[in-house]
Amino acid sequence: MKIRVSLALLLIAAAAALAKVNILGYWWENPLPYQQTPAGLASLSARQCGACHQEIYREWQASAHAHALNDLQFQAEMQKSPEVGWLCLNCHTPLENQIERIALSVRNQSTHQPVLTANPHFDSALHDEAVTCAVCHVRGGVIFGPYENSKAPHPVRQDRRLLTADVCTMCHQATAAYTDTLVCTFDTGKEWRNGPYAARGQSCSSCHMPGIDRIVATGGPVRHSRRHFFFGSKIPKETRQNASEMADYALFRPGLTVKIASARRSGGQTLVILKLKNALAGHMLPTGDPERFIRVDVALGGATRSLRIGQKWEWWPKAKKLADNRLKPLEERTETVEFPSGQPGTLRISVYNGRLTEQNARYHHLVGRYPLETKVIELAPYHVN
Ligand code: HEC
Ligand code: HEC
Ligand code: HEC
Ligand code: HEC
Ligand code: HEC
Repeated sequence: MKIRVSLALLLIAAAAALAKVNILGYWWENPLPYQQTPAGLASLSARQCGACHQEIYREWQASAHAHALNDLQFQAEMQKSPEVGWLCLNCHTPLENQIERIALSVRNQSTHQPVLTANPHFDSALHDEAVTCAVCHVRGGVIFGPYENSKAPHPVRQDRRLLTADVCTMCHQATAAYTDTLVCTFDTGKEWRNGPYAARGQSCSSCHMPGIDRIVATGGPVRHSRRHFFFGSKIPKETRQNASEMADYALFRPGLTVKIASARRSGGQTLVILKLKNALAGHMLPTGDPERFIRVDVALGGATRSLRIGQKWEWWPKAKKLADNRLKPLEERTETVEFPSGQPGTLRISVYNGRLTEQNARYHHLVGRYPLETKVIELAPYHVN
């Protein structure tokens, strides 16, 4: 009898494991597998890692990864369509430990009808930490790192995969159309692989985690380490920013460069010719979220002309890309801007990174509560004589 019972339990366990959702075969339909706490540590939490890895912890806290759950736009979108929230959480709070109710299957092959099961391993503090340290570093009770000789109070193993794009593209490369209006369109991994940087061996972390020599853990030696801010668009998550955050921003330059090729008055108007180049981004500029855009404001004598670089999508009734004028890695483009006045004046050029349109922000009740853009470049004033 006893054997039969445990065999039955085993079968149920196996069935539960097999029944995990895999509708179209994407990993993010499942959370990353449950991770146990490595020996020598009290918990998996970033705060605990931060007791010894103080600077790295402070940097990660300022990153978008740490805000991938409490982000106001994320929260607003989750409230609008809670039935697909399970899918979102698998990337924004990816470890099984971080997910309260797990989808083991769906009804009618529909992402909108998950069958959710309470997770006995749920750790709500870890949930709040979103893309936390353990997501990238912990597997099978061991902490993966870039070194081969560290003396740590926890098990460590050198893992070369950490130094490749793989650790990033598991989330930053995701394209799928689940329904007419539910699509995933993160193509950053492919854009990078098809561009010049992958061939040169410059992975995501070469740019997004700038190097610095420092002590990586209290009491340890000075080593070649990497910043954990994961800077990108630098659009802040909160409307109020502190001075130290602003100072940190200087560590990462924007992808775009803007040069004034010429600005001259002729025939009662002024013609400004600009060279826009994706000089520093290892992928399309901008990349990732399809609503992101860059706005170049060109102002002369009280008039402003704006150039927009980005994708344009229609989301209803069927998600469809309408236009895309993003810059490929190292691509340079010439733009001509006309002003009706032929008077001498001062040309002022500023560049903004935008997160989403004003219209969409209004739809999600985010206006005034959530930064929609940030200025990334301001050229010195240029006199048109
Ligand atoms: C009690 C202090 C302490 C805690 C807590 C701690 N670490 Fe460490 N960790 C260290 C020390 C010390 C080293 C070795 C540093 C060296 O040799 O430069 C280290 C090394 C590492 C390395 C590099 C390993 C390698 O060989 O490449 C990583 C990655 C790491 N820790 C991540 C974490 C993460 C993630 C957490 C939390 C889940 C954590 N640590 C918690 C002290 C700690
Ligand atoms: C488990 C999924 C996951 C992994 C792994 C991951 N990311 Fe992210 N990343 C995210 C999410 C989700 C966000 C957006 C959070 C938000 O804005 O609310 C993000 C945001 C970013 C941003 C900021 C974008 C911006 O401008 O706001 C950068 C840059 C970035 N990630 C780089 C990386 C790099 C480099 C790696 C690999 C070392 C990596 N990510 C690994 C999920 C992931
Ligand atoms: C999105 C993935 C990701 C997250 C989240 C992340 N790291 Fe890392 N971490 C990396 C990568 C990639 C490297 C190796 C970079 C290299 O050397 O090229 C690294 C390196 C390290 C190292 C080795 C020293 C160094 O600076 O290179 C330590 C220690 C470390 N991380 C600790 C942490 C801690 C603590 C947290 C959370 C507060 C954390 N990491 C969060 C991806 C991540
Ligand atoms: C050659 C350097 C370089 C490489 C390699 C690189 N990036 Fe970037 N990335 C940048 C720069 C610069 C920006 C800032 C763009 C801007 O001005 O907003 C950026 C922006 C981003 C953003 C924010 C969205 C945006 O367009 O602002 C994400 C997300 C991102 N990168 C992820 C990745 C991932 C994932 C990889 C690897 C597959 C990667 N990057 C490789 C330089 C790089
Ligand atoms: C395959 C992994 C993945 C899934 C699934 C996913 N996201 Fe994300 N999400 C990301 C990454 C990576 C980013 C980083 C930003 C980028 O590439 O532009 C992000 C960024 C975001 C942002 C911030 C956008 C910004 O401009 O700052 C919001 C909001 C968001 N996601 C909402 C959702 C919602 C809602 C769902 C579910 C319907 C979802 N995500 C599902 C990976 C994912």
